[in-house]
Amino acid sequence: LFPTAAAAARYVAREIDKLIRARNAAGKSTVLGLATGSTPVGLYRELIRLHQEEGLDFSRVITFNLDEYYPMPKEDPHSYFRWMHETFFHHVNIPWENIHIPDGTLAKEEIDAFCAEYERKIKAAGGIDIQILGIGRTGHIGFNEPGSPRNSRTRLVTLDSITRRDAAPGFFGEENVPHHAITMGVATILEARRIFLMAFGEHKASIVYKAVEQPPTEAISASFLQEHPDATVVLDPAAAAELT
Ligand code: F6R
Repeated sequence: LFPTAAAAARYVAREIDKLIRARNAAGKSTVLGLATGSTPVGLYRELIRLHQEEGLDFSRVITFNLDEYYPMPKEDPHSYFRWMHETFFHHVNIPWENIHIPDGTLAKEEIDAFCAEYERKIKAAGGIDIQILGIGRTGHIGFNEPGSPRNSRTRLVTLDSITRRDAAPGFFGEENVPHHAITMGVATILEARRIFLMAFGEHKASIVYKAVEQPPTEAISASFLQEHPDATVVLDPAAAAELT
């Protein structure tokens, strides 16, 4: 629990910084699992500052993003592809070939093979060292909406109506929000060696309480983090308000 979201972001950035520097010193790569949305913006800002002002070198970093809307052209203002490049990738020195984001431009019949290949690439990179997560009001991590099995993998999913409603302002209306997304699965996420779930603001308080204090359930995919050996929930006071 941190006094502010900015302080929380600095903490997570420091943990990432320490790992990248240790791996760089050993000549090894660091694999990061990344999220979009409002929650990690301060984290990306701090990582950019560490790169620009404190020499943090991302040249051996490999990234896998959690999700992308489907269908979604890469250049669309709403694409997570574009958001990640504008918010983070353009400002650090991650080699472009090290960046992986689910592809919203695939033909339907290409999706299954793409998802299997995404899983294979994560494994080939050595697995995810640090996974960054936000949490949706449905309890989703990635876009693993209620009902997503504990053993789910990267796949095409249907977005919950609450998730589409929450995204509506950015799309100028719920009718413009895609109905589908490609997301890493719950099992994909849980295989990361270390996980930080970040949540800030009073609108997250109720779902944070359910995810952290109620028994793990498919109805709230974030609750499965309780079964992970190294998952940290990083909160500001407003998001922590309903914890007992
Ligand atoms: C985004 C993602 C989602 C968001 C969640 C919270 O890549 O996977 O699970 O983390 O919907 O979104 P914000 O941070 O906008 O409240």
